[in-house]
Amino acid sequence: MYKSLVYGINNLIPLADGSKVPCINFDNAATTPPFFSVMNRINSFAPYYSSVHRGTGYKSIISSQFYEGARDIVLDFVKGDPEFHTVIFVKNATEAINKLSYRLKDEIKNGIVLSTYMEHHSNDLPWRYKYNMDYVEVDEHGRLSLDHLEYLLKKYNGKVKLLAVTGASNVTGYLNPIHKIARIAHRYGCKILVDGAQLVPHHPVDMKPIDHPEHIDYIVFSAHKMYAPFGTGVLIAPKDTFKNGISDHIGGGTVRLVTSKEVIWDDPPQKEEAGTPNLLGVVALIQSIDTLKRIDMNKVANYERDLTKYTYERIKSIPNIILYDDGDVENKVSIISFNIEGLYHGTVATALSLEGGIAVRNGCFCAQPYIQKLLHISLEEMEKYKKDENLLRPGTVRVSFGLYNDYDEINVLLELLNQIGNNTKYYDLKYRNPPFYLK
Ligand SMILES: Cc1ncc(COP(=O)(O)O)c(C=O)c1O
Repeated sequence: MYKSLVYGINNLIPLADGSKVPCINFDNAATTPPFFSVMNRINSFAPYYSSVHRGTGYKSIISSQFYEGARDIVLDFVKGDPEFHTVIFVKNATEAINKLSYRLKDEIKNGIVLSTYMEHHSNDLPWRYKYNMDYVEVDEHGRLSLDHLEYLLKKYNGKVKLLAVTGASNVTGYLNPIHKIARIAHRYGCKILVDGAQLVPHHPVDMKPIDHPEHIDYIVFSAHKMYAPFGTGVLIAPKDTFKNGISDHIGGGTVRLVTSKEVIWDDPPQKEEAGTPNLLGVVALIQSIDTLKRIDMNKVANYERDLTKYTYERIKSIPNIILYDDGDVENKVSIISFNIEGLYHGTVATALSLEGGIAVRNGCFCAQPYIQKLLHISLEEMEKYKKDENLLRPGTVRVSFGLYNDYDEINVLLELLNQIGNNTKYYDLKYRNPPFYLK
């Protein structure tokens, strides 16, 4: 339905037998192709591109106005409050979380940060080396345990200052009930950061008014996962979080006054955005938001859910399939992780690429602790991978849909998986050693 919105759909790519087919991209959780509208907007903005904040020239004023105005458009997309929140443009979600982890030093001090066992490394590692941490467990299907969350909040008795939790898992696609979680966290005086990298591109988001018990305190996301791959990420936080203290990156654009003895910092967000900002990245993000809003995020979520439901109902009967999913498609975004019994995940991914022109991702998706939970691999078992770098690592194959994917493409995937599942020995021999460019 939305195929004509993105670049690259009809690209012909080579298969193992030398023939060429249109590529099928089921790796949207990693990054998405650009919208045509985004590229057009970049081109139409380019003649006006100029320095932000630092010029009196006409183009510089247009550029600065666009850049500053973009913050309210971003806030509106996730229903933030322009009076209360600040929007800080960064490189990606990872940089946004790192920045926040640095800037919450005073607020958290000796308190505790909770992350969860279903996080992307980007919402775990930045917290690990700065704070006392603990992790919320997942249940046997990999869903976040709210009972365990509440248990930890009680156990630490008011000391937990922040819960860093993903809005949707990049491995299983599970949606976390972020508002229910926020309500629980707030009851114990704990704030909540939602990693929106997999949520914002696929689902409507509402941070809710700040006096609502279910409001979201902080949210981050990446434009390159929402059809605007020009190096922009977003951190939304209360202005107060950045009022005091010094940013992790300092320099040009962050100050009101500097003498050889003294620095007076600007207000947020400017004090947090050192150096020349990525204006065209922001232009791309704003156009992507405009296109997504025109389609309507509810429609995006419904369409992608239908694709996922269709796939899930059929993938279940692929011979030798192993699914890591509780089947509750209503409560997930468009991601399915699986393995085929007897085949290394990399072999399946290679076969899909070389026999169907289908791009998927395989491995641990920067969520190694979660994969270890889903595959029931103990810490003791993980020791052997430390000792032998050449051991094939555990992991899964992941398909992730974008709004431009369709049922025909999914049928190609299902047909090929059926062949692979029925002929595992053949595929093992053929693709155990993938070509150099897939290693
Ligand atoms: C859930 C989640 N969080 C964070 C990230 C990091 O995003 P980025 O690489 O854009 O910083 C990703 C990327 O895959 C992700 O899936």
